[in-house]
Amino acid sequence: MANADLLNEINKRRTFAIISHPDAGKTTITEKVLLFGNALQVAGTVKGKKSGQHAKSDWMEMEKERGISVTTSVMQFPYADHLVNLLDTPGHEDFSEDTYRTLTAVDSCLMVIDAAKGVEDRTIKLMEVTRLRDTPIITFMNKLDRDTRDPIDLLDEVEDVLKIKCAPITWPIGMGKEFKGVYHILRDETTLYKSGQGHTIQQKRVIKGIDNPELDAAIGNYADELREMLELVRGASHEFDLEAFLKGELTPVFFGTALGNFGVDHMLDGLVQWAPKPQGRATDTEDFVPAESKGFSGFVFKIQANMDPKHRDRIAFCRIVSGKYEKGMKMRHTRIGKDVRISDALTFLAGDRALLEEAYAGDIIGLHNHGSMRIGDTFTQGGDYRFTGIPNFAPELFKRIRLRDPLKQKQLLKGLIQLSEEGAVQVFRPLINNDLIVGAVGVLQFDVVVARLKAEYNVDAMYEHINVATARWVYGDPRKVDEFTRKAEQNLAYDGADNLTYIAPTMVNLSLSQERYPDITFAATREQ
Ligand code: G4P
Repeated sequence: MANADLLNEINKRRTFAIISHPDAGKTTITEKVLLFGNALQVAGTVKGKKSGQHAKSDWMEMEKERGISVTTSVMQFPYADHLVNLLDTPGHEDFSEDTYRTLTAVDSCLMVIDAAKGVEDRTIKLMEVTRLRDTPIITFMNKLDRDTRDPIDLLDEVEDVLKIKCAPITWPIGMGKEFKGVYHILRDETTLYKSGQGHTIQQKRVIKGIDNPELDAAIGNYADELREMLELVRGASHEFDLEAFLKGELTPVFFGTALGNFGVDHMLDGLVQWAPKPQGRATDTEDFVPAESKGFSGFVFKIQANMDPKHRDRIAFCRIVSGKYEKGMKMRHTRIGKDVRISDALTFLAGDRALLEEAYAGDIIGLHNHGSMRIGDTFTQGGDYRFTGIPNFAPELFKRIRLRDPLKQKQLLKGLIQLSEEGAVQVFRPLINNDLIVGAVGVLQFDVVVARLKAEYNVDAMYEHINVATARWVYGDPRKVDEFTRKAEQNLAYDGADNLTYIAPTMVNLSLSQERYPDITFAATREQ
């Protein structure tokens, strides 16, 4: 392929994910975004390859019972001469470490905020993760068709709590039943809203110019109110600055309603115009690989297991960092130093997996994994490096895991270590006893692990309560670490990959240890 064609394919791609608190409207906005992309078949359940039946496994049954989707899906759709990849970030009970790690595989994020509630916990946590790479953030203030908080207060809260500057791109006119529409500050035009048309792409009524008398005729007193308000907004907020946005220091803010499908198109326009094209990634050899490099490269950020339990079928989600995937190509699995020919990479288009002919930097492809792939694994066309920046995240929930049949201790450990390599959970082995502690970011993972241990390793396990608040990976000068190990042995453990980890019974205990041992690093993430 001529270089120009490759560049063209890369330049038109935008790969992003949504960060939000549950119920802020992520699912609704996803539907609307897909409506604009003419791709309204939301990916989710994945079919078994041969039978065409939905694959069943214990934990897939579990998802069905609970009406949730464990499956992270990838959606691709065209919008305004671009090709957009939207990576789903599980958010309710299915929230997990995968949600965090998905954020390492995108180039920008859309932050959806319920404008009646403002900044909520989960959003704060997810923003922290985006900070690892200073990912550019676009903000959508949702639910303006309800009585919301004052828009200026909302911007202040985002700035104070999330420590990012806000540049309003649109400004709402009224709210709740009186929500009239938004004024686009950069375009100097007002778009008026019609309620009850959320299932469609609305016919827009656009009034050019803030001083246009047509505006007064259309919205009466609201026009003057808007003019006054804009004076205030201009004085009190930041102007959009592309460079600051790309550094993750400033977020363009849009107002609207996902349910009413209003303002979503403004946001999408901003996304394709400003969000970065596929970005290269750093490697362990310190050579940065730009997306435009000719050779293919990519990394695994998620492994989805057991889609078809009979075959122990696992799919590794691989973000292409550079170049192009072509069916039948040879790539090097750099961790194990092996070349593999891949003819059956999958795309997740339109809700089903389908065999893929080609894909480009920024795209996500699914690789069949028979147990050899781990989170963070790198595939290249020749180079012997690994991408960095795909970490493990410190778990937030912990349980002690116990066997019902004590003779299966070995299988239990093997199963847990393999499941931790897939990123499902993390396992910790305390230095001072034979307990096994399972740590997860989301609560559902505990049930998934017990179900999978039974199905795949024939191990019957159960959980017990344990007093652990958080875990931190411990690094530092070996002598200091030795000294610390002797002093704090009762709170130390090895993780699934034998890294020393501090298992803190309380957050206060963690801060005390940090104060007492300033030379030791207590890391909340660990590189693979
Ligand atoms: P999530 O994925 O972030 O968890 O949120 P989701 O889109 O499922 O939205 C959560 C609830 O908020 C849903 O209502 C949804 O209809 C509603 N919602 C989303 N966007 C808007 C909006 O712009 N305006 C208003 N008024 N509501 C909005 P629900 O009653 O929980 O679910 P449903 O029964 O309506 O599906």
